[in-house]
Amino acid sequence: MHPGHSSARSADVLVIGGGVIGLVTAWRAAQRGLRTALADPEPGGGAAQVAAGMLAAVTELHYGEETLLGLNLASAGRYPGFAAELGEASGQDTGYRSCGTLAVALDADDRAHLRELHALQRRFGLQSEWLTGRECRRLEPLLAPGVRGGLRVDGDHQVDPRRLTRALVVACERAGVVFHRRWAERLSVVRDRAAGAVLTGGATVAADQVVLAAGSLSGRLAGVPAQALPPVRPVKGQVLRLRVPSEYAPFLSRTVRAVVRGSHVYLVPRENGELVVGATSEELGWDTAVTAGGVYRLLRDAHELVPGITELPLTETRAGLRPGSPDNAPLLGPSELPGLLLATGHYRNGVLLAPVTGDALAHALVTGELPDEARPFTPRRFSPAQQKVSA
Ligand code: GLY
Repeated sequence: MHPGHSSARSADVLVIGGGVIGLVTAWRAAQRGLRTALADPEPGGGAAQVAAGMLAAVTELHYGEETLLGLNLASAGRYPGFAAELGEASGQDTGYRSCGTLAVALDADDRAHLRELHALQRRFGLQSEWLTGRECRRLEPLLAPGVRGGLRVDGDHQVDPRRLTRALVVACERAGVVFHRRWAERLSVVRDRAAGAVLTGGATVAADQVVLAAGSLSGRLAGVPAQALPPVRPVKGQVLRLRVPSEYAPFLSRTVRAVVRGSHVYLVPRENGELVVGATSEELGWDTAVTAGGVYRLLRDAHELVPGITELPLTETRAGLRPGSPDNAPLLGPSELPGLLLATGHYRNGVLLAPVTGDALAHALVTGELPDEARPFTPRRFSPAQQKVSA
């Protein structure tokens, strides 16, 4: 603690990090009657400012991520109610849009990849329909003539993460969350228990419980003992934003995506005319530079899918950092340090997993336990003792 700085305020819960995950956790905690504070210099910033907002539980299914699929589906299922409740609580539209997704293939390799994905989806009983190239173009007439087939997934929707976080900030304020617009510099630990945090400038926020929800930065908070520090790393994603002038609308009616020569590309059309094109996936540490190569690859692949894209004004290029974890799944709930809970490591699914994360963390803060659907995502799965048992 810094001498000369008294404890700023105390709370039942201090949430460190005001991205989508920190905000939803704080909102849900405050709704449960917990006196909640949140520390972030810019609440609503972070990776959600870059993310496209696909709710792609089915089209982003990967081998080996079956447990995560259950959580993703649970969260996708809560989205309509969550968006409606948040809209009501904040008076703001979240941009939730039930538009569906079309995943297409451009060559034989892509088609083989998509067939594999389809087989996996069917094995899990997921709703997904194989379409010929012609059927794909009937749904989305601006698709390239070379599209060889695709998967129609009517249950993978979208939300606008920038609107979502704005709405969450307002909902938090209305629910009584106290914002400290500062970085948390160090976790306070008193008698082997998390007890709050020291903020930049030296003020301390004391709290009975602390939730570390600082995205890819979560693994760097000073004062967290090694056994409780989340194993998250930054995974860079470059994303472009274009504008569809009204004379070109409707450009696309749903999210369109593909794997082009092994790289994922997706086009997410918003109702307000924004078209989001993403994303690279780069293991480059803390680098958030937008590169010519990244922009080139995204535009090249998007142009192969939808040639008309090159007519559109390019309005923004930006890079964000996904919080990657060793098994691509989030770390939710109590850590090895009493009083410290984690809500991080959401990797590609932070926006999708917001509803289920808020519910799980609020439950854990009140009861000390995770709800059933979140139990497999305990941070303790990475603790050295647990790893020895499973080895
Ligand atoms: N879920 C989309 C991405 O991470 O790029």
